[in-house]
Order: sequence, then C-alpha cells, then structure tokens
Amino acid sequence: PVLVVDFGAQYAQLIARRVREAHVYSEVVPHSLSVPEILAKDPAAIILSGGPASVYAEDAPEVDPGIFDAGVPVLGICYGFQAMASALGGTVARTGVREYGSTVVDLRPDDQAAQQADSAGGGPLLAGSPHQQTVWMSHGDSVQEAPDGFEVLATSPGSPVAAFEDRRRRLYGMQWHPEVRHSVLGQEALERFLYAGADLAPTWTPGNVIAEQVAAVRAQVGDARVVCGLSGGVDSSVAAALVQQAVGDQLTCVFVDHGLLRAGEAEQVERDFVAATGVALKRVDAADRFLQALAGVSDPETKRKIIGREFIRVFEEAAREIVAETEDAGGEVRFLVQGTLYPDVVESGGGEGAANIKSHHNVGGLPEDLQFELVEPLRTLFKDEVRAVGLELGVPEAIVWRQPFPGPGLGIRIIGEVTAERLEVLRAADAIAREELTRAGLDRDIWQCPVVLLADVRSVGVQGDGRTYGHPVVLRPVSSEDAMTADWSRVPYDVLATISSRITNTVPEVNRVVLDVTSKPPGTIEWE
Ligand code: XMP
Repeated sequence: PVLVVDFGAQYAQLIARRVREAHVYSEVVPHSLSVPEILAKDPAAIILSGGPASVYAEDAPEVDPGIFDAGVPVLGICYGFQAMASALGGTVARTGVREYGSTVVDLRPDDQAAQQADSAGGGPLLAGSPHQQTVWMSHGDSVQEAPDGFEVLATSPGSPVAAFEDRRRRLYGMQWHPEVRHSVLGQEALERFLYAGADLAPTWTPGNVIAEQVAAVRAQVGDARVVCGLSGGVDSSVAAALVQQAVGDQLTCVFVDHGLLRAGEAEQVERDFVAATGVALKRVDAADRFLQALAGVSDPETKRKIIGREFIRVFEEAAREIVAETEDAGGEVRFLVQGTLYPDVVESGGGEGAANIKSHHNVGGLPEDLQFELVEPLRTLFKDEVRAVGLELGVPEAIVWRQPFPGPGLGIRIIGEVTAERLEVLRAADAIAREELTRAGLDRDIWQCPVVLLADVRSVGVQGDGRTYGHPVVLRPVSSEDAMTADWSRVPYDVLATISSRITNTVPEVNRVVLDVTSKPPGTIEWE
C-alpha cells in the first residue's frame, strides 16, 4: 500500500481517498508508528500528511530521518513537507507570514527554459505543469532552505521553498495541499508522484478489490455458514453481495421488515436484490409486532429505544433459527457479516479491536451465547468505493445509490404516535417527493430528503368547495458531506411546486406542504 502517515489533521483520510482515486491502494497510519513498524507494512510509497502542529512546538510530532533512507519514495505535504525539510537538514522558519487559502505558486522560478515554455521542466513531481498555478495553502511556518541534494521547484509569496524534490532518493515535498480540490492541479501532482515519482501502476480497481476480498472471505470462512443482516442500505447490501460471491449458499441473509420502510423498499430488497445477487434471504415480517410495541408512544427517544430493542430481538430469533437449522444438518454458523467501512476503522483508532467493538455495537449487542466472528469485507473501503464495488457486483442501482435512511425508519418521521394509517399517509407523500426529486435529476445533489408527517398538528384548508382539516407534511431536503453538518438544499421552486400539488391532490389527509429551511446545526437532519 501507499501509507499516509497521519500527523493529526483532518486531511489524512482525504489524501488516502485521492490516492485511491488514482487507482492506487492506500491506507492511513498514525504518526506514532516507528520506522520499522512502517516498513513492516511494506509500503510502496509513503505520504507524510499535513498537521496542526508547528515543527517548533514542544510536542511537535517528529519524523525519524530513517524513513528517508529506506529506499521508499516519500512525499511530504504541508506539515509533512516541513518535517521532512527539517529532518534532512533544511531550515524551517517562523516568518510571521501566514498563507491561508488560495495562493498562486510560481513553479521553477529559476528555470529559464521552463519559464519560456510556460510550464515547469525537470523531474517527476511538477514537470509539464503550468508555470503559475493556484493552490490551497494553510501554514504559518515555511521552509527557507531545502536540504542538500534537493532542487527547489516552486516558490510562493510566503514560502521561499514551496516544493522540492530529490530525484535520486525519490523524496518529494510540497507546502500546499494537493488533496484539496481548491488546488487546481492537485490531483495531477499526486498522480505524478505516484506514477512517475514512485513508479506505481494504477491497478486498484473495483474488479481487483472484489477478487482480493472474495479470496480473503473464503480463507476466513472455510465451509462454515454465515449470517448477514440486510437493511436495504448500501453497505449491508454490498457486503452481502460480496460474501455471496465468495461463499455462495453458505450465506443466509436476514431481512427484518419492521414495517417502517418507505414505499417499495421491502420489495426492492426481497425481489430486486435477491434477483440480482442470488442470496438466500430469510425475510421476517415483523410490522405488527413493531406497531404493537409503538402503540401510544410519541416521545422520540422512547420510540427509538423500542424500535432498536425489537429489532435486536427479531434479528436474534432469526439468527437462532438459522443456527439451529444448520446444526441439525451437521453444520456450524460462526460468522456474521458487517458492512463496516474504512472511515469507521480509522476513526476508532485503526486497531482491529477498537473497530470490532464499534461494529458489534452497530449490530446492537447480540447476546453472549450468540457468538459470531465478524466478516467485514468493506473494512478497507470508502463509501464511493463501496458503491463502485456494488455496481460491479450487479447490486441494483436503486440500492447502490440509495440515500441515507435511518434505522428507525418512518417511525421517527411521524411526529406523534406511529400508527398503520399514518404510515400509509407518510409513505404516499414520501413516494411522491422521491419520484419528483429523481425526475428532476437531483438525487446526487441532495444528501437526503426526509419527508415528515406532523401527525399531531392539524391545519385548515380548502379543497373543491369544502373546508378541510388535515395534516401538514414537511420536506427536509439537505446537502451534506457526512451528515455531521448540513445545509438545506436550494431545490428549484418549480420542483417544490410539483411535489406540493401532487401531494395535496393525491393524499387526502395532507392539505399543506411546508419546506424546512434550517441548517444543521442548529437543526438536526431528522425531526426526531
Ligand atoms: P441527524 O438527524 O442526527 O441525522 O442530523 C444524521 C444522519 O443520521 C441518520 N440517522 C440515523 N441513522 N439510525 C441510523 O442508522 C438512527 O437512529 C438515525 N438517526 C438519524 C439521518 O437520516 C442522517 O442521515
């Protein structure tokens, strides 16, 4: 792999993603690893990320110069660039000149030939790149002098040395952030480092990922049987499809239909997903059970707890049945598939143990006597890669591109008590909103669009020649990167108008459609 050494900024994961966009496999490792530990991972190249520290700070994470003698190509970025310069004998100074945001760098300022050609000459990192380019900077210290053996490739107003390279030792560095889209040619610079600087080939493709994971799952599982909980979401679906590819009918998927899904979703899982992937599915229709448990409850937290509790119970019963059937037939169920993704692994410290605790938690704490070993075939993947793998495996597009949908489903989108009638009303309104947003081509621009039924609120309306006394529904379209923060989406008025009139014309209980224009914070995405 290409190892991205994380110096504690938010950029390390982004760098790893960009490297993978260049079809080269990449992993994030903490800077606390020693050089032998890093080399034990057999890195094809190393990238030292940016970080919040100043190389002068007392507790500034240092770079062991040994990393530069291992014959592995290294790229330093921002803090990593300064730490590299400093470790190899260059000078880094606190000049008081901060550069933050878009900055123009001058490539090869001393290279007459390159200037005449209006692009940089020289070595791998920036050769052929435009002479002046806009990049994204964020630093207070700057490299004043490059270490011996390095050639200065670029300068900027605040950085006498803004990029350098030592072609012989294959060491490279840049002050700016190539992983950020504001660095106009950032991805090109990263790719030049990978392909020309480190001689790597772009072989990390969905097809290869599948082949690798299929082999890994087979090795892990042997002839034991495997259970997977399917929610209809992207991650569990793709994980199941991958395991199915690896061990075929040793896998049984459990789909708990809690009756809180949107129109068509249960069918999507039961019919389309099964048809496309051939997985063996055990569907548990538990709608009545959930409705009974939710009767008379309108407090949001109580609803969530009830839904979570019932879900675990139902899943557990189904898993027990599968275990019993398998044991009767002389087999053994030992494995549970989880759709854990790479960001979860990194965020929980990257260690195996930490991530497992979190995934167990995701399943919702199965009881001790149901001990499963986890199969996590998506552990190395980012969401966009999961989608690419899913498409390659033939998972239906409607599932691969499904927007996030909360586990408690429509149960937390009915403000008030959840009843079968109210679910019908909300399903009808939601289906219309989704259809129109799709028709308008907005699915990929919008993170998700909850439709919320204000079941305890009534509003007066007029329809035909009569007065109505119905309920409002709220449209909550949001745009977001990761659901931690969000902004309300500026959906075109004509699309909103169509949604509104279709809902009020066809769903008799709803006589008003309102738009939620609150960002997050202060509002959460869901209403409950
Ligand atoms: P909030 O409402 O907290 O939602 O802004 C952030 C994201 O998480 C989803 N969400 C959930 N997902 N179980 C889930 O699996 C839940 O209980 C849950 N609650 C909220 C929400 O749809 C949004 O994408």
